[in-house]
Amino acid sequence: MKIDILTLFPAMFASPFNESIIARARKRNLVEINTVNIRDFAQGRHQQVDDYPYGGGAGMVMKFDVLSRAIEKLKESNSHVIYLSPQGKKLDQNDVLRISPQEHLILLCGHYEGIDERTMQLVDEEISIGDYVLSGGEIAAMVLVDAVTRLIPGALGDAASSQDESFAGNLLEYPHYTRPSVYMGEEVPETLLSGHHEQIRLWRKKLSLKRTLLKRPDLLLKREYDQEEKKMLEEILFAREKTIK
Ligand code: ADE
Repeated sequence: MKIDILTLFPAMFASPFNESIIARARKRNLVEINTVNIRDFAQGRHQQVDDYPYGGGAGMVMKFDVLSRAIEKLKESNSHVIYLSPQGKKLDQNDVLRISPQEHLILLCGHYEGIDERTMQLVDEEISIGDYVLSGGEIAAMVLVDAVTRLIPGALGDAASSQDESFAGNLLEYPHYTRPSVYMGEEVPETLLSGHHEQIRLWRKKLSLKRTLLKRPDLLLKREYDQEEKKMLEEILFAREKTIK
């Protein structure tokens, strides 16, 4: 996958993309990430990228001519252009799964009051990372790049680890434990030490359901259940135990 990021602040991206899984994916040529300075497409002595809004009002608007030149320069036949904005579709793991097979992403980071509306005809999709306003699209672009890159085959060490994880099939992931098995009187659940794979699988499935019920009941409504899970959910819902871990 190739990702071109159109931004006024390319330096912001240096360290997040040079660490951990993204750095490894880049080294393995699984993903090529370029930051492109929007100012390079501005004209005139002042290389102006923004201007006052027609009709008046506060703030500045990023110029259509500048953004249009930038996007058209980067666009290829297989490009998917995403504008990061608080007005976009709120990003979830299903979007990440849908976007991650794309061959070429162009991510447009807005600033100031926003972009000239005419730019939207060059945009395939508008994405928000949550209902709050950031000072620009850069951090949102980083979030999207991270979430998408780790799903590229080969990016994660253990291929299975993106299959079980939280949100896969609208379920949160089960709890994890590692050594020591007892610390300050706190014990690891016995089943996990048993070596009994089927019991461990059932325990994990049940804990996933419990956690999702407790922390994100909205997700459970979206899940499609098999018989085993229906039975487990029944047990959970009608259990008399007071604590749900
Ligand atoms: N730009 C400013 N706020 C944003 C948000 N919440 N998501 C994506 N891009 C943004």
